[in-house]
Amino acid sequence: MEFSVKSGSPEKQRSACIVVGVFEPRRLSSTAEQLDDISEGYISNLLRRGDLEGKSGQMLLLHNVPNILSERVLLVGCGKERDLDERQYRQIINKTINTLNETGSMEAVCFLSELHVKGRDTYWKIRQAVEATQDCLYSFNSLKTRKEEPRRPLRKIVFNVPTRRELPIGERAITHALAISIGVKSCKNVANMPPNICNPAYLSEQAKTLESDYDNISVEIVDEQQMEELGMGSYLAVGRGSENESLMSVIKYSGANDDSAPIVLLGKGLTFDSGGISLKPGAAMDEMKYDMGGAAGVLGAMHALAELQLPLNVIGVLAGCENMPDANAYRPGDILTTMSGQTVEVLNTDAEGRLVLCDALTYIERFDPESVIDVATLTGACVVALGSHATGLLSTHNPLAHELLNASEQSGDRAWRLPLWEDYQEQLESPFADFTNLGGKGAGTITAACFLSRFTKKYHWAHLDIAGTAWRSGANKGSTGRPVSMLTQFLLNRAGQEQGE
Ligand code: BES
Ligand code: MN
Ligand code: ZN
Repeated sequence: MEFSVKSGSPEKQRSACIVVGVFEPRRLSSTAEQLDDISEGYISNLLRRGDLEGKSGQMLLLHNVPNILSERVLLVGCGKERDLDERQYRQIINKTINTLNETGSMEAVCFLSELHVKGRDTYWKIRQAVEATQDCLYSFNSLKTRKEEPRRPLRKIVFNVPTRRELPIGERAITHALAISIGVKSCKNVANMPPNICNPAYLSEQAKTLESDYDNISVEIVDEQQMEELGMGSYLAVGRGSENESLMSVIKYSGANDDSAPIVLLGKGLTFDSGGISLKPGAAMDEMKYDMGGAAGVLGAMHALAELQLPLNVIGVLAGCENMPDANAYRPGDILTTMSGQTVEVLNTDAEGRLVLCDALTYIERFDPESVIDVATLTGACVVALGSHATGLLSTHNPLAHELLNASEQSGDRAWRLPLWEDYQEQLESPFADFTNLGGKGAGTITAACFLSRFTKKYHWAHLDIAGTAWRSGANKGSTGRPVSMLTQFLLNRAGQEQGE
């Protein structure tokens, strides 16, 4: 897909399609009005006859509008003008893209980016539109023998901005959005891949691909033997029931021209989580292939970062592992010694994510990180608490938490903070070891983060629980590519490149 910006008037466009908004009830946007004037009331006549009310998401495709140079005009219902908010805007863009894609317009000039969206500027509108377009056109069909492709797919969109002064802002929005979309696509591709293909070795190959594609990326793989030497007893225990070797991929991006302390992004990479000996129920167990969504998100963010070539040092770690029941598997009751030296009593082998992450969190101390953000499909409880709209955010460092909340707000990839008060820590007490891997009744997302927090004393740390946001279930099942957008926004902000500057 190709994107560009321009500043022109609608009646002068010569395109396969021009896209303009109509508000409810039957009110033309200013660009629609311009088209109406030049076509001697053609559009307002249609509205008067009741062809389009202007309700949000309504579409009316017109051909051969009098005096208009473009082949088609797509009228898009935008709801009540005063109610047009971010969510509606994104929905409208999605519908528009699907309509264009299905109706044979291979290119379009879109004036929806000129509409007034509450509290949002041109940069935001164009960036969201490009991200939404790429999201909407994504499909995972590499394993289908017969692929369904539209006969005349959309290839090019031009977004219009009201003044020439805003052209550079629009261009910047496109650059950022395209880099993010590349990251989102990597994330989706690896996350959607089935667990018989996507195992820890596959994850490490994806990391290696980044190394070969970008000069300032290098990758190291930590295998089971090295984990043994490092004393990563907890991580190793989780993988012991699997035939697929546990592998931790360490992706180093050197973008700063000094050796300033890196930001570390750590992703839970359970390529399949059966629950282990504490076996999960059968329903929807296939979705546990997405238990590597954290690693996929980190891989995607690293990819976006490499595209943007931001002046930062960032290390992405993919903690690859598979949790399976087997004669050699770890069991409830086992006491593990973590790399930190702390001992953990396993009360449920399905609470494996924290056991993998805790050793990875200790491992990364060697990088002396400036901040650490881990990303994990960690708890079903997070889905209960926040559903699929917001990622759970927990942190022991307020400034970092606020940076992430800001990034989530800016990118539209939302997060919501949960408390991490000391009071919850006692739920992890064990009679036999330093603590257990199970928080018991109540606040499952918080007690999981409490567990992790015991391994993060040496740096600023935040945790993103993406259990509800990483993938969609049901008929539209698939990876969402979250939280690549939020993480990349965080990095853009760190690099001082937020918005149009
Ligand atoms: N990967 C799961 C969490 C999960 C479950 C994410 C369902 C998304 C949907 C994690 O490893 C897990 O099994 N967590 C347990 C923890 C419990 C045993 C303390 C859970 O949430 O049930
Ligand atoms: Mn589990
Ligand atoms: Zn899991």
